[in-house]
Order: sequence, then C-alpha cells, then structure tokens
Amino acid sequence: MVPDSDLPRRQFLRAAVALGGASALAACQERTDGDAVPAGDPAAKPARQHAWRDHVPHDDSGNSLLPEHQVLLYVDFDPDGPPDEDARSTLDAALSTLDRAYEWSADGLLHTVAYSPTYFDRFDTPLPSSVDLPPPRALSDFEDPTFDTQDAVVHLASDRADVVLEADEALTGDRESVNSESVDARLTDVATVDSRRTGFVGAGLPAERQDAAGIPDSNPVPEESPLFMGFKAGFVGNQATEDYVTIDEGPFAGGTTKVIANLRQRLDDWYGEQDYPERVAELFSPGHAEHDLVDGVGANLGDDSKVDRFLDDIEEQARATGRVGHAQKAARANRDDDGNVRLLRRHFESTDDIGSDQPVASLHFPSLQRRISTFEAVREAMNGTDITAATPAVRQRVNNGILEYIFVRRRGNFLVPPRRHRSLPTPRPEE
Ligand code: HEM
Repeated sequence: MVPDSDLPRRQFLRAAVALGGASALAACQERTDGDAVPAGDPAAKPARQHAWRDHVPHDDSGNSLLPEHQVLLYVDFDPDGPPDEDARSTLDAALSTLDRAYEWSADGLLHTVAYSPTYFDRFDTPLPSSVDLPPPRALSDFEDPTFDTQDAVVHLASDRADVVLEADEALTGDRESVNSESVDARLTDVATVDSRRTGFVGAGLPAERQDAAGIPDSNPVPEESPLFMGFKAGFVGNQATEDYVTIDEGPFAGGTTKVIANLRQRLDDWYGEQDYPERVAELFSPGHAEHDLVDGVGANLGDDSKVDRFLDDIEEQARATGRVGHAQKAARANRDDDGNVRLLRRHFESTDDIGSDQPVASLHFPSLQRRISTFEAVREAMNGTDITAATPAVRQRVNNGILEYIFVRRRGNFLVPPRRHRSLPTPRPEE
C-alpha cells in the first residue's frame, strides 16, 4: 500500500510510516528525492542504548526535540525456551546493520531493543536484584489495560520518515541493502512481529493529523503544538537525566527500564468545554492559570514547567479552585530526597488504531527510570486519590488533571540492556 500522492509532503511522509512496508518506503524515497542519510560508525555508538539526548536537536531553551517519526515493533522470539547462540548472533548481525547504515542521531537513526519479564521467564535463573522488572499491572482502579507481554520491543526513531521505514524494512523485510550497507541478517529470522505501532511528535504534525477519532471537528490543535492536547511537554528541568535513570550496578549496569503505555485520547470536552485557562489549570496547576504563567503552547516557560512552586499546598489549591493539575500531581512523586527528577518521559502521538483503519488519537508513552516501581509510584500519584478525598469538586476523573480525557489501553514493562548485552541477553550475562 502507498499513501495518497496528493497529500502535502509532510502528511505523505507521516502516512507512509504508519502504513509501513516496501511500497510505502519506495514512495517515501521518491518524495525525499534521495537526500543523503549520514552513515553510521559502529565504534562511535554510545554504550547506552538510551543515550539519545546528546544526539537530538534542542530548542532555544535546551529542551530535547524528540525524533519526529517513531516505530515500535513488538516481537516474540521463535521458538520457546532460552535462545541459542545462533539466534543471538543473528539478532546481533541484524542490529549491527543499523549501526553501520545510520549515524546515531535524529538525522540518522536512534534505536533500542528492550526485553520483557516474559522473555526472562524463558530462563531458569532469575534476573539479579539490581534489575527491578515486574510484569505490567493496572495502576488505578479505573483502568483495565491489555498488557503487552511480547518478548521484546524494538524502538526506531528518526526525523526522517524514509529512515525509520528503511530500518524497519532492514529488520523485517526482504531488502538486500540499506543506505549502502548489505543486510545479511534480519530480526524476523529469529522473531515474529506481533504488533507494529507508529507515531509522530513535533510542532505541526499533530495539527495535520487532527482528523482523528477523539479530536473534535473544529480542528482545535494549534499548528505550533507538538502534542494533540495543545501544549509542549518534556521541559528539561522536569525530566530525569539519562545518568539518573541508568542502572548503576550488576550485569545490566548502563541499561535502564522502560514502561510503554498507549493512551487513547478523547479531547471533545478538553477543547469543547474547557477554556484556555481551564486547560492550563488541568494540565499544569491552578496556580499557572491564576498567574498567567503559560502563553500559547507553553514555549514561554523555557526550560522548566515552574510546577515546583505549586506542590506544597496542593490540597488547599484544589479546595479553592475545584481543580488539580496533572503535572502538579505527578511532580509530587517525581522528586527524590535531593530534589532530582526521577522519570525520563519520551512520549509521542499516534493515530494508529491497532486492528482497524480508522485513525484514532492516542499517545505512546515510553518512560525511562532506573526501577519500574518508580514509574508506578509516580503514576499512582497522578491518580490524585488523596485529592478526591480532600474536596468533592475533584472526582476520580473530573477536574482531576487530565484523567477525564486519557484512557490507558495498553502497558508493557521492559529492560533496555546496555548495548553490550542488547542481543538476547541471559538474566546473568556476565556469569
Ligand atoms: C496525553 C497524555 C499526556 C499529556 C498530554 C501530558 C502532558 C504533560 C505536560 C504538558 C506536562 C508539564 C510539562 C512537563 O513537565 O513535561 C506533564 C508533566 C508530567 N507528566 Fe504528563 N502528560 C500525559 C500523560 C502522562 C502520563 C500517563 C504520565 C504517567 C506517569 C505522566 C507523567 C508526567 C510527569 C511525571 C510529569 C512531570 C511532573 C514534574 O515532575 O514536574 N504524564 N505532562
């Protein structure tokens, strides 16, 4: 399948990533006129697979601009049981093709492979205690997600639509070479793709894709917004550093853990019933609205959302205004005793509807942290259960941050090993 060639260039490229496959790639390459893609040097790849921050552009305030086009390949390895050396070297060869073909950057390709608790269940030996990787679970009593328990997830990300598509084809298609590098082994030689998910992030892309279920027909998403909800997220001051989320001991030192949720968005009331100050209050905090701290999509906030000013008297603010902010609730659990931020969020939008052709607005929400339990604690703080007890105006899903508009459909937990153990690791790779 190929996207409609009448679509404007950017829309065409995004549609090609969503479709995937050799014909979408060929159509995409025609549209990108064969612009050169920087080649990779395997020796220059960072030891951490999650080392992205120094390899993506930043805005004027130093906030990371995540790669515009992203693909998640959820895979199961064949057959059951612990993988053998042949499978390990095949996967290593497949991933090395990407290392050689593309520079480690948003102009080239960033990629990771991460493994689930189900994968590690194939072995008799458990993971060491330095890795906290429980199976995914529901994190509120009002969500009932499908759990992603596939063995692994491969994440491909680039500012170039043709690069993510070509890398996907190198792993799962029948191409003999990519960016002048020969393809001698494929992911699909050792695994089956269970689910392919795609997405996009960055100013302009959500506005272009707002003809999706979940977004009202009034085309409310501003052109400048990197996300469907109309605001920027991921200010560098409200993100953990890559060092902070890196496992610092044991055989997986240099790795991290990754939760990936998919959240359906229903934004009719977000845009239809809330005015701009109410949206600011619900996403940031009532104090942000009261003091007019946010302008437009929030670029004026600079490198920090300023939410720390509004944490101490959160219940009082909720009683006074009848609302509590999303960032405000989450931030309470998102600092350690020294004030460091604990989660590194790297979310991006999607209009995939897994299993149908109808575009549906959703968010792929990868979060990196040293321990999965840290994510769980922050997510539980975001439920705001304590605030619902403090004032009747805030209910489980009403006036309670953005919980009225987001619905967790899927969640999976994964270990992102350091690069040296990225190919089918055992639970004790250094023993
Ligand atoms: C459509 C869904 C979501 C949108 C549009 C969204 C948007 C935002 C925005 C605009 C901020 C404030 C700016 C920033 O610090 O990045 C924020 C903060 C935050 N959000 Fe979300 N978010 C969403 C879902 C989630 C989910 C599912 C979690 C799960 C834990 C989460 C956790 C956080 C955290 C931890 C912060 C930072 C608070 C801090 O420590 O300062 N968000 N989000």
